[in-house]
Amino acid sequence: MKNLGILLSGRGSNFEAIAHSVAAGQIPARIAVVISNREDAPGLARAWQMGLPARCIPSQGKEREAYDREVVAVLKEHGVDIVCLAGFMRILSPYFIHEFPHRILNIHPALLPAFPGTDAQKRALEYGVKYTGCTVHLVDEGVDTGPIICQAVVPVRDDDTVETLSARILEEEHRIYPEAIRLVAEDRIRLEGRRVLIQPRLPAGE
Ligand code: GAR
Repeated sequence: MKNLGILLSGRGSNFEAIAHSVAAGQIPARIAVVISNREDAPGLARAWQMGLPARCIPSQGKEREAYDREVVAVLKEHGVDIVCLAGFMRILSPYFIHEFPHRILNIHPALLPAFPGTDAQKRALEYGVKYTGCTVHLVDEGVDTGPIICQAVVPVRDDDTVETLSARILEEEHRIYPEAIRLVAEDRIRLEGRRVLIQPRLPAGE
């Protein structure tokens, strides 16, 4: 059973999707702690309502690595094995990444390497791509550049707005993020260069 640490900054719908999968026994893990860098994040209030250990570590005005040291200390205090960024709108320092090698996951609302960074759905729409989607990847020192675990494709419709497109991408995010976490929690991913290879599931008992 692995311990998950969830980091979020806002709404927290991906966190909720993960929490439901965990509660349904679909991921061999438990949520050990939820951390928000913003006091007013709805996701933080939701975590409290769900009775999960959750706290705010405010990031405002703090230097990046000093902040990350505070967060890593709390994650370690809770015995976290896998860190899931769920709408956590901060770039992690090399220090943080080295503390959890290949054990930090992020969800991004585009088919990486297209449209990294912020406003991915808006930029995809404006660019005129016919297909976009979402990506779960391991976090490295770049911005949305780490090895890709899984992706889902969402077609763009002629009448899409940023809101309608984002909503359809979000549905897919909620489906693939728990699935990717399950693969990592089951120790089924292997890295070959930048490629993430998925190992078959072992029959029960092996
Ligand atoms: C999600 O769409 C996620 O993919 C995106 O923020 C949203 C958070 O929603 N993340 C990024 O853009 C990271 N670069 P949520 O708080 O409801 O999970």
